[in-house]
Amino acid sequence: METVGVVGLGIMGAGIVEVFARAGLRVVGVDVDENAVARGLAHLERSTGRAVERGRLGADERAELLGRITLSADRGSLAEVDLVVEAVPEVMELKRALFADLDRICKPSAVLATNTSSLSVTTIAAMTSRPSRVVGLHFFNPAPVMKLVEVVTTVLTEDGLAGEIAELAGRLGKTPIVVGDRAGFVANRLLLGYLNQACRMLEAGIATRDDIDVAMREGAGLPMGPFQLLDLIGLDTAYEICEVLFYETKNHRHAPAPVLRELVTARRHGRKCGHGFHPRTARPTAPPATGPKVAVTTIGIVGTGAEHLRERLDAAGFKTIDGHDDADVVLAIAPAPVVEIAVGLPRPERVVGVHPVGDKVAELAVTVLTSPEIATAVRDLTRVMALTPVVCADRAGFVVEALLFPYLNDALRMVESGYASFADVDTAMKLGCGYPQGPFEMLDAFGLETVRDGLRALYAEYREPAFAPAPLLERLVVAGVTDIPNRANANTLKGVEER
Ligand SMILES: NC(=O)c1ccc[n+]([C@@H]2O[C@H](COP(=O)([O-])OP(=O)(O)OC[C@H]3O[C@@H](n4cnc5c(N)ncnc54)[C@H](O)[C@@H]3O)[C@@H](O)[C@H]2O)c1
Repeated sequence: METVGVVGLGIMGAGIVEVFARAGLRVVGVDVDENAVARGLAHLERSTGRAVERGRLGADERAELLGRITLSADRGSLAEVDLVVEAVPEVMELKRALFADLDRICKPSAVLATNTSSLSVTTIAAMTSRPSRVVGLHFFNPAPVMKLVEVVTTVLTEDGLAGEIAELAGRLGKTPIVVGDRAGFVANRLLLGYLNQACRMLEAGIATRDDIDVAMREGAGLPMGPFQLLDLIGLDTAYEICEVLFYETKNHRHAPAPVLRELVTARRHGRKCGHGFHPRTARPTAPPATGPKVAVTTIGIVGTGAEHLRERLDAAGFKTIDGHDDADVVLAIAPAPVVEIAVGLPRPERVVGVHPVGDKVAELAVTVLTSPEIATAVRDLTRVMALTPVVCADRAGFVVEALLFPYLNDALRMVESGYASFADVDTAMKLGCGYPQGPFEMLDAFGLETVRDGLRALYAEYREPAFAPAPLLERLVVAGVTDIPNRANANTLKGVEER
């Protein structure tokens, strides 16, 4: 393939044009009218200009790159291209009409590809007389930067085409994964389930927006908190993807959280309009450290496994004691429900659950019996321990595990269903979402048994089917399998079946 066409020169289309031209291909870009074409050109000039300023592209290379691009408002200019990538808005009717038209315009051997994030590639393919040569080619935003490309095949795709397109993606410097046509493919399907659950957690009042964001960023080590990411993606886009996912899966996990609908209706679409979950200017930060507001000198500790907390408190001049007698506050190092411990103590209003997450964050579970003053005092004590407090309700998994474990479970179910391999899922989440680890690398780091037990606790609390541990997880635990990402998908499954 030497000449490619791109239809729609918006955020994604302009980026995709740049990606092809950088790899030395000739590109014909098309949009609806001259104004849209001019916007597309301005985008390309800005983006490549920045690359020169940052030393990533020579000035001569930039001129050559731009010289390989022809932009036009005339679809007829796509007649001779070998491949067309469509990047018009995510509206099925628009895409269907466009593909019917491209089918008439493009030479019969041309491959027609859609950059859709969530619509059915099969439905789009069926609009053409060449459904066997229609695929999904899903780039991530910003296209010149993000390394992942999901190559989506349908039941109609001809043999060998996926390999050809994946090879082309490799020429573009991208890492392709080849998957079938399911709503959201790999990355969006897993990501949106997690983001939607964060919205439900907020609605249920389990923690505040900023505490959830901080927990996932500083505790779980993700590049952004879920509400920051939702604002970046666009709440309208997130809502639509959830709708499409739910339409296909009928899984409550994908049913858009009411708060998403409410914000979209209120036109709070996120960063692009200046206000979503966060206002444009506010950067979520932890409130400044303050000293405890109730006099705390003696801290009781019940439960085990938090020696470093005790050491930090001792170093800060507090008196820590085992148990609860005479303590001003009691830290219960225990999983939820912490109230089970609190009710057994003489002064349950002084008890707060503490759950360190990594070495930067401590989740603080405030029970229905904890007094507000004690909750505030423990939050301030946590800062004295050089940890960021995340105040949350006394619920299974608190914040981080309650959000991460179901996401890991979704990833397991995806592999279990035969849709994608362990390696492809890890690749998708790292290169498509910028996550530092893939879900199976995370699963290994937590320990399979820990995740299985955490999911059991979540399921027992919420009776949410998506929280029930995937049968594959149960079997991997029984089989004592670890190091999942380094095992071939088929072999791991086969190995487990044989045990
Ligand atoms: N924005 C993202 O983060 C992202 C990421 C991955 C995939 N996608 C997918 O990429 C596609 C495009 O999204 P976007 O964010 O770039 O949209 P966008 O609104 O920024 O750009 C769409 C472009 O298509 C043009 N257009 C509209 N109708 C057209 C037509 N009939 N013929 C030619 N051009 C037409 C518009 O003028 C505009 O320039 C969607 O399917 C979206 O789901 C978006």
